[in-house]
Amino acid sequence: MCGIVGYVGSSKRSEGLGALAADGSNNYSALDVVIEGLRRLEYRGYDSAGVAVVADGAIESRKKAGKLKNLESELAERPLPESFTGIGHTRWATHGGPTDANAHPHLADGGKLAVIHNGIIENYATLKAELVAKGVTFLSETDTEVAAALIGDLYRGAADGDITRAMQLAAQRLEGAFTLLAVHAEQPGVVVAARRNSPLVVGLGEGENFLGSDVSGFIDYTRRAVELGQDQIVTITPDTFEVTDFFGAPAQGKEFEVSWDAASAEKDGFNSFMEKEIHDQPAAVADTLLGRSDPSGRLILDELRIDAAELKKVNKIIVLACGTAAYAGMVAKYAIENWCRIPTEVELAHEFRYRDPIVDSNTLVVSISQSGETMDTLMAVRYAREQGAKTVSICNTNGSTIPRESDAVLYTHAGPEIAVASTKAFLAQITAAYLLGLYLAQLRGNIFSGQIKDVLADLNKIPEKIQTVLDNAGSLRELARSMKDERSVLFLGRHVGYPVALEGALKLKEIAYIHAEGFAAGELKHGPIALIDEGQPVFVVVPSPRGRDSLHAKVVSNIQEVRARGARTLVIAEEGDEAVRAYAEHVFYVPETPTLLMPLLTTVPLQIFAAELASAKGYDVDQPRNLAKSVTVE
Ligand code: F6R
Repeated sequence: MCGIVGYVGSSKRSEGLGALAADGSNNYSALDVVIEGLRRLEYRGYDSAGVAVVADGAIESRKKAGKLKNLESELAERPLPESFTGIGHTRWATHGGPTDANAHPHLADGGKLAVIHNGIIENYATLKAELVAKGVTFLSETDTEVAAALIGDLYRGAADGDITRAMQLAAQRLEGAFTLLAVHAEQPGVVVAARRNSPLVVGLGEGENFLGSDVSGFIDYTRRAVELGQDQIVTITPDTFEVTDFFGAPAQGKEFEVSWDAASAEKDGFNSFMEKEIHDQPAAVADTLLGRSDPSGRLILDELRIDAAELKKVNKIIVLACGTAAYAGMVAKYAIENWCRIPTEVELAHEFRYRDPIVDSNTLVVSISQSGETMDTLMAVRYAREQGAKTVSICNTNGSTIPRESDAVLYTHAGPEIAVASTKAFLAQITAAYLLGLYLAQLRGNIFSGQIKDVLADLNKIPEKIQTVLDNAGSLRELARSMKDERSVLFLGRHVGYPVALEGALKLKEIAYIHAEGFAAGELKHGPIALIDEGQPVFVVVPSPRGRDSLHAKVVSNIQEVRARGARTLVIAEEGDEAVRAYAEHVFYVPETPTLLMPLLTTVPLQIFAAELASAKGYDVDQPRNLAKSVTVE
């Protein structure tokens, strides 16, 4: 959840070595790199931010509660000396509230050691008691300060003044999830890091090296990266990086090239990343489809490295995910069951492993995660593997933990998603899940190849249709602005429109802080209809009138039911569906498409509505309160 950056370089940078800074110059210090990295990682947490550099044999640190701009003002008032070794942190509070004192870095060893941390150290109370007994005093309520004190204590003791060794010894004693970065005043030109159940990647430069929670932490400077394994320590200097396990045995990282560049992580003239990412959706879907089928309509998913014979034996699919990704899973269920005739369950990852689920070697577990780091999903995947299930991950982040720990991965190619509320990743997840469903159907011979070809042809038309939705969104924006003072909005849908209704409600809650609920339209009469009174806005996602016989008619009846009780009915329907007009205060039409694929279109107006309404209320749609982009705690 927190964002972490580390940098080591040297004054030679200014003489023309390697990468350029964001402003095109080659003259930058550790602080420049760290602040730029924090800006890119701020989506991971924005309760407070802090930096530390090693300069003139001392640690200099600044930290501030609130967003990064507060830290930048502090740095303007109290500048740091030039340095080429630094670390920085942007925080999503777990232990201790978002105050200056609780912000990272935390210092130890008489101010000579600075430490930043992402995760939760579960045995911090025991360790703290030990350290207090040794005379250590603490300034904050955080578990991180305990880790810092432990590293400091070991540095002076068993590690004999070696910061890498001190980190290894400390990591052996820590329980929980952590990425820790440390710098020591006595070892300029060195940043050391430890990782367990929490993300960390190395960026490789020329005469400089980087660390980041993800590659966006250093994407301005290099696209060469190394993914680290579980329980590893890495030490970077300007010219080297060395990986070991927690006991000092040499280990290997896996080098990869980042497939996108800094420009992909910019707003491209939009007011917010969310708006930009909503507009990225035609490309996100197109790129996720790209190269995964041949002209004859055969799916080619070479990356699914699970033996075809094993996949043929699958008799149950369980989709595991959280939040928006779980709604993508719900859409996948309709498609997979329809095409493959394999019973498919969708379960919130955090509920899954606590109910003794029935999983065996014929179960295929499909996890869906944009970040690939969501702890709830990771733990559920691990549990499923222990039970013998085969695991496929649908993920947007190269080199992240969930795909690494799964048998196979199907990457979504949405590009970096910066806004905290997910948009383009959702559509890309649904697209990837469709591909997986079609692939399984092809493998098992469930549907004719002609049918697969038709679905692929319909999928290939989706990007253009999303563009049409985006181009026609003017009336929705007006509607959203007119509704900025609403206190509650309901969303109804049936079949694949049901997860879309849930997603529409989640977007509104997350970024506009309005009470919103999504319901299966058929469930209305079983209770929720009591909520309807005069003026209650209700969005209804209407299925295609060309689809299943009764589905459309049933939803039109649901619109009439709420309308009769005074609701304002706001309808998302397919072009040409005149039947809904009579009962709708506002209709937004999406282009015609087969029912199973409709979520790729009907979601988009609801995203635009939420983003516009939140902006009209003056909220920061990219960084909604209390949230973080990747939830790396359970
Ligand atoms: C909502 C949202 C979250 C995520 C959820 C899972 O807009 O972004 O609900 O979908 O936290 O995150 P990932 O996909 O990274 O596992």
